[in-house]
Amino acid sequence: MDWKKNIKCLIFDLDGVIVDTAIYHYLAWKNLAISLGIDFSESDNENLKGISRMESLDFILNLGGIAMSHEDKLKLAASKNFNYLELIKDLNESNILPGVINWLNQCEQYGIKIALGSASKNARGILEAIKLMDRFHVIIDGTNTSKTKPDPEVFLLAAEKLNLKPQECVVIEDSFKGIEAAQNGNFYSIGIGDKSILYNATIHLADMSENDINILSKLK
Ligand code: BG6
Ligand code: MG
Repeated sequence: MDWKKNIKCLIFDLDGVIVDTAIYHYLAWKNLAISLGIDFSESDNENLKGISRMESLDFILNLGGIAMSHEDKLKLAASKNFNYLELIKDLNESNILPGVINWLNQCEQYGIKIALGSASKNARGILEAIKLMDRFHVIIDGTNTSKTKPDPEVFLLAAEKLNLKPQECVVIEDSFKGIEAAQNGNFYSIGIGDKSILYNATIHLADMSENDINILSKLK
């Protein structure tokens, strides 16, 4: 495929792709799990990548066999978010993951649109903090969607806003569920991180500095 002709947009996930916030989500959930007496490991946390705050909480409560009212769940989700925001309060440009700026610059150089497709309701605040807000043509986040990954809604909305077909977009994701969402929507995907988890991705990179946008020449 002539990717420079066919690919019109890259849709970036936020946490774990653009910025190293995934660890802080994990730490905040871990703190909450400890306060509830629930064992919660880093491998349990893989299941939370890409899903919403409330779904994450349900997963943890399920692990501990704890049932509670919706009202109590809302309070716990709010306290996790409070803790998370405290952990990321000093977030700045230095937290942008290696290679990301180069990819954004190359998109601009090749006339490829830049979109965000994130489950996070904190996405806009984070993009402000790391000073990348202006680089995005479209931002779709947890405040715009009703279904979470592996549903492709977040990516479909981004493509729709740009009047593009999924086949003209490449999703960049660090989570298994995000790659599944890309597949479910007929998008090409680049999996960033552990290949044994992201084996479904069209292309795999250990991190975004491992290669640059020219890796898209691998697309068939
Ligand atoms: C995703 C993260 O990007 O956003 C998940 O991978 C997180 O771990 C989800 O739970 C929702 O984030 P927030 O910021 O709305 O709680
Ligand atoms: Mg992610």
